[in-house]
Formats: sequence, structure tokens, C-alpha cells
Amino acid sequence: MKYLIGIDLGTSATKTVLFDETCQVVASASQEYPLSQPQNGWAEQNPLHWRDAAFSTIRQVVERSGIDPSHIKGVGLSGQMHGLTMLDDQNEVIRPAILWCDQRTAKECDEITRRVGEKRLLEITANPALTGFTASKILWVRNNEPANYARCRHILLPKDYLRYLLTGEFATEVSDASGMQLLDVPGRCWSQEVLDALDIDGGLLPKVYESPEITGFVTKEAAAATGLHPGTPVVGGAGDNAAAAVGTGVVEDGKAFTTIGTSGVVYAHSSQVRIDPKGRVHTFCCAVPGCWHVMGVTQGAGLSLKWFRDNFCGDYMEKAAQMGIDPYVLMDQDAAQVPVGSNKLLYLPYLMGERTPHLDPDCRGVFFGLSAIHTKPDLIRAVMEGVAYSLRDCYDILLEMGIKPEQMMACGGGGTSALWRQMLSDLFGCEVATVSSKEGPALGVAILAGVGTGVFSSVEDACRRFIGVDRRCPPIAEHVAPYAQLHAVYRGLYPALKESFQTLQGLS
Ligand code: XUL
Repeated sequence: MKYLIGIDLGTSATKTVLFDETCQVVASASQEYPLSQPQNGWAEQNPLHWRDAAFSTIRQVVERSGIDPSHIKGVGLSGQMHGLTMLDDQNEVIRPAILWCDQRTAKECDEITRRVGEKRLLEITANPALTGFTASKILWVRNNEPANYARCRHILLPKDYLRYLLTGEFATEVSDASGMQLLDVPGRCWSQEVLDALDIDGGLLPKVYESPEITGFVTKEAAAATGLHPGTPVVGGAGDNAAAAVGTGVVEDGKAFTTIGTSGVVYAHSSQVRIDPKGRVHTFCCAVPGCWHVMGVTQGAGLSLKWFRDNFCGDYMEKAAQMGIDPYVLMDQDAAQVPVGSNKLLYLPYLMGERTPHLDPDCRGVFFGLSAIHTKPDLIRAVMEGVAYSLRDCYDILLEMGIKPEQMMACGGGGTSALWRQMLSDLFGCEVATVSSKEGPALGVAILAGVGTGVFSSVEDACRRFIGVDRRCPPIAEHVAPYAQLHAVYRGLYPALKESFQTLQGLS
């Protein structure tokens, strides 16, 4: 039997999963780490926490499985996208990584647009300048921490830092590289034009591969630290969304998925480059060589519910601990008792600003319609519905671009909630299904590792053979009209508040 490992370096934890050659889970382990928010709208993590979590979870799955590590044919890496990791000439981390959800770089985005030109930026990088993306973070360090910038010799994305630790190679792959805003997305290579305009030395960047290609081999030192066999191939892998696409079988035109993880995503595969002229959704290379994807992103999806749980649901957490279950299960049960529309309570999930459709780092979360009749379950349901309204905004833009998904899969932690899936289905007006494997990104990159090392013949073939639909959730007819009315009210709130968000942000 041959085995494959998928590692997903997420925002809240790193999860490592060992699969057999039929994509069945043999062993899995995950380890959490903190996220620090030194200022309102900032988000950072210590890359050494990622290292510790990855090394320890790899060791755990290898040991628990009891298999001979030389039977592990390949490792695939997935991870939170866009995060800026900088290394010095000793390959040591210079400063905490600045994450995808960090919103400090509005000025640098203006600088990028000015230097490259709005039209060329969209043509080359397929996206407008965005605070979430890596290029603006690089400029922020240059503008605000010149000494750190001067020491920088390597710029890496989170999962690619892990690749360096495992293989000694500085490499990335097209799907994650697309989110740096330095890649020629139609051409699938670094853009010299953008690098020149931004005055960034291309020598700082890693080599770009296609996602299933082998990028290096596990070193003796990394083998000693993880229990892997020295020389095990490590393939390109993918950013977490492109990886989840493979893990849910979204690798052909007509297929799409919605994730509710820390962020929320509506993602559609595309065999052609399609760019929203208003830049409200991202166009990136995907993990299938020669293909792309279009996706809308809600910054605070699972993050919203986690924020609500951590700050206001101590009672649920205590009860869940006594019962030995996940507090989200109890919150979900109570929210399910509240009617559609949460008794006329709406929530805007803009805790960390918003990307799709507003592209606004300054907006913030809102409960709208609070009344003395509301209780905690109303608020929990309103948070879940607010995330679903925001994902409907993403879906609407795909429809506007002529992308009409024939199948919508659900994944991420939130995708395991039947209530949340039902909200999506009612709001999208289409069936939302899950796949039998719950491993999403980790499975996706294990499949890429299998393709790169000859265990599977192609990404599409492996997905056809091993990924099957599990539960189907069709829309409930009587929910569709009320949700459409509520979504219309939700849509009116952002324009009404836009100026006030800016005023609030401008206060010292
Ligand atoms: C995508 C994005 C997020 C992160 C979080 O553009 O920023 O989905 O990848 O994991």
C-alpha cells in the first residue's frame, strides 16, 4: 500500500492527515496556535508556531499509523493564503507574519495602483490592489519598518515557509502565488512589469511551480524532526481554497463550492481566465494545471461565530465541556429553534473589513434591528445568517459574470452544520451538497502529491475516482422568498453606513 500526506496550515491550527492510496484517512492530528491583533484591523502570527504545529502533527500521524515512513510517497502543502513571511540571510524569521485578514495596508494599495496603473494591474494580476494580498504587506514593511525590509532575503507564503523547513527549497506554486499580486495570472509566472513598477527585487521571491509538481525532497534534518523518510517528495500543493477545490472534486467547469472556515468563500472552477471588471471577486490560477478559478471572499465567516462564542457564549462552552461535545453543536441547536430572519435581526460580518463585494478595509461588524425581545439564540442565528447573506453577495457576482454553477459543494468547519448549509441553499436557491471526506484542503493536497509522484494519473481522474457526494441539501421552498426580502434589507445597510464607517475609522 502507498500513502500520501496532506498538511493544511490554517489560521487557527495546522492539520496533518495521512491517507492511503484510495484517499481513506489513516491518521490525523491538529495543533492550534494564537493569532495576535496588536491594533484594530491588524492580524499577525509567529511562523515558529506553524513550524512546531506542523512538525509535531506530522510526527503524530506517522507514529500513530505504525506504517513504514518509506511507504509515504509524497507530501502536499496547503495553507492560509497571502500571509507575508520574511527571512534574513541566515534564513531566520525577521518579524511576525502579516496575515490575509490584516487590513493595515490601505495606503500601500493606493501606492500599488498608482505605480502599476489600475488597468494594467487588473490585466496582469487579475485583481485590483487589495489589503489582504501580499504585495501591499511587502510595501507596508518597506514604508514603515525599513530596517526589517533591508534585512529581508526571502519572501514566502505561510505554507512555503513550511516547505523551506522540510526541503530547504524556496518554492511556491501558481495558486497561492496568485494571491501575492506579483504574479502574471494569465501567464502563470512572476510579472517583471509589476516587480519593476513596485521596485521589488524578484530575487526575493521563490521559484513558481504548477501545483502537482515536485518542488523538493525532505532533508535529513527535517526527517529527524518529523519521522518522515529522508528524500520523500514534497509537491507544490495549493492555497487553502484551491486545495479545498481538489478535496471537494471542484476541478471542472460547472463545479463550485462554498467554504465557511475562518473566512468564507464562494469558489467556481474555470478553464478560462475570467476577470470581474470591477475586481469584486478574485481570479487566481487553480491547482489543475492550465486552469483558473474565480472566488468571492467574506473576511469574517467562521471568525464571526468564533468571536461571538468566545466573547458571549461562556455558558454554552461550560455546558459543552460537561457533555464532552463541541459548543458549536449546542449553539447550532438553539439557533435552529429561531425562525428564518432571527426575528428581524440582521448582522453584517465585517469584523475584519470586507472584500467581496465592497473591497473596504474600514467597514466593521453591525447588529441591525436589535430589540428587547431578542435573546442569545436570536443573535447566534443572526450571525450565521449574516455570513450566509454575505456569501450570497459573492454568489450573485459569479452569476453576473455568467458563471452558473451546476453543483455547489459545502466545506470548512461551518459546512458541517446542517443549519448553515440550509441557509446557503435557501439563499442561493440551489442544492448544496457535502462530499464524504471531511478533509477538504488536506485531502486536496494529498491528491496533488499523488499526481506529482505518479500514484494517480491526473487531478481530475483522482477526484472522479475517490470523491463522492454524501449529503444533499435542497432549498426549502417557503424559506426562499423571506430570505430574498431579508437579503435585500441586508444589501441596503452597507451603502447607508459606508460614510459612518470611514468617519469612525478616522477618529483617533
Ligand atoms: C483567500 C483568503 C482566505 C485565506 C484564509 O483569498 O484570504 O480564504 O486563504 O484561509
